[in-house]
Order: sequence, then C-alpha cells, then structure tokens
Amino acid sequence: MHGVFFHFFKEYMEERYGGKETWESLLIANGCAYKVYFTVKEYPDEDLISLMVQASNLLDIPFAEMVGDYGRFLAPRMLRFYSTYIKDPNWKSLELMANVGQGIHHTIRTRNPDTSPPEIMTERLSQHQLRLRYSSPRRLCVLLEGMIRGVGDYYGEELHLSETECVHHGGGECVFEIERLSTAN
Ligand code: HEM
Repeated sequence: MHGVFFHFFKEYMEERYGGKETWESLLIANGCAYKVYFTVKEYPDEDLISLMVQASNLLDIPFAEMVGDYGRFLAPRMLRFYSTYIKDPNWKSLELMANVGQGIHHTIRTRNPDTSPPEIMTERLSQHQLRLRYSSPRRLCVLLEGMIRGVGDYYGEELHLSETECVHHGGGECVFEIERLSTAN
C-alpha cells in the first residue's frame, strides 16, 4: 500500500488520539520502535492493517469504526495532496468519484506499476445520485465508505450512503448507492 496511506494514518493518530506518544506506542506495539513512512514508497498491505488493528486494540475502538473514521479523515487530505489529479475545478463530490476509477486510479496505475489502486466503476443515476462499485483484493469497503463521506466533507456536500452489496456478506463486489442531499454554493 502506498506510503500516503501510512503518512496520513500517523497524522490521524497524532491529531485525534494524543500526539506523537500514541503513534510511538503504536509502532512499539507493532514490533518496531522507530519507523518513517515515505509518501513516495510502497509498503506491505499487512503493515497498514496491523497498525490499524493495534490502534483499535490500544484505544479500545472497534476496528471498523476506526478504519471508517480514518477514511473520512484521509480523503480531504488526499485530495489536497494530489490536487493536480482533479482535472475539472467544477467537479463536486459525485463528479470527482465518477472520475476516480477510469481516470485518477487508472492514471496512477499507469504511471506507477508498483501501485494497485482498487477498481472503482460508477453509474450516474441522476444529477444527485451515483452508484459506485468497488472491487479490491484488500476488501477495504469500510475504508472506502469513510473516504466517500470525506469527499463529501471536502466539497461541503451532505451525502447519504447505503451499501447494497458487500463482499463481507456474500456479494461479488461492494456496491454503494450515494445520494447528494445538499450542495455548497
Ligand atoms: C486525487 C484523488 C486520488 C488519488 C490520487 C488516489 C490514489 C490512490 C493511490 C495511490 C492508492 C494506493 C494504491 C496502492 O498503493 O496500491 C489508492 C487507494 C485507494 N483509493 Fe484512491 N485516489 C484518489 C481518490 C480516491 C477516491 C475519491 C476514492 C473513493 C471514493 C478512492 C478510493 C481508494 C481506496 C478505497 C483505496 C485503498 C486501496 C484498496 O481498497 O485496494 N480514491 N488511491
């Protein structure tokens, strides 16, 4: 997994859960007292999952709740970090998400074959409704759900989500129906 996911997880831990000490305790609990994650490198997926599991244990927060909340924290920061990938300044949340799979993630994959961003397919159901299909061997739909909410936060839009299919409940992929309830002008 790309270092940017680790970098912002450190920031998330430090901002929300008690500064550098919490992060350092987490690294120690994860079996490595000192580690710097660079935003230009790839690291094993298991390292991120295991940091999240340790954090959930250390802080006594259910794993899915923490990962979802992290996704919401992460998305606006990723969008600022990678602002050059936002090709149209008129995009809002649904327009951006409609351009992630075939656009942004596809470009990332082509430029850096070491990365494997998830497959995200979308269908525009109406001006304010989008169906989003997610497929990834990482099966991180809980992170994705938080990220979708975070995209709404970034654009100042209120989104209503429902997951109608999920790989963790027998589905072949994860499907989200997203409705934009309000837009910021
Ligand atoms: C400028 C915008 C974006 C950029 C540059 C970007 C780039 C990336 C990169 C580099 C990864 C890591 C891939 C790897 O290490 O193999 C990733 C993963 C991911 N991205 Fe994006 N992304 C963007 C927007 C989004 C948005 C808007 C969503 C969802 C609505 C999204 C959903 C995800 C998810 C869930 C993952 C985790 C990996 C997985 O599930 O397999 N991304 N993205």
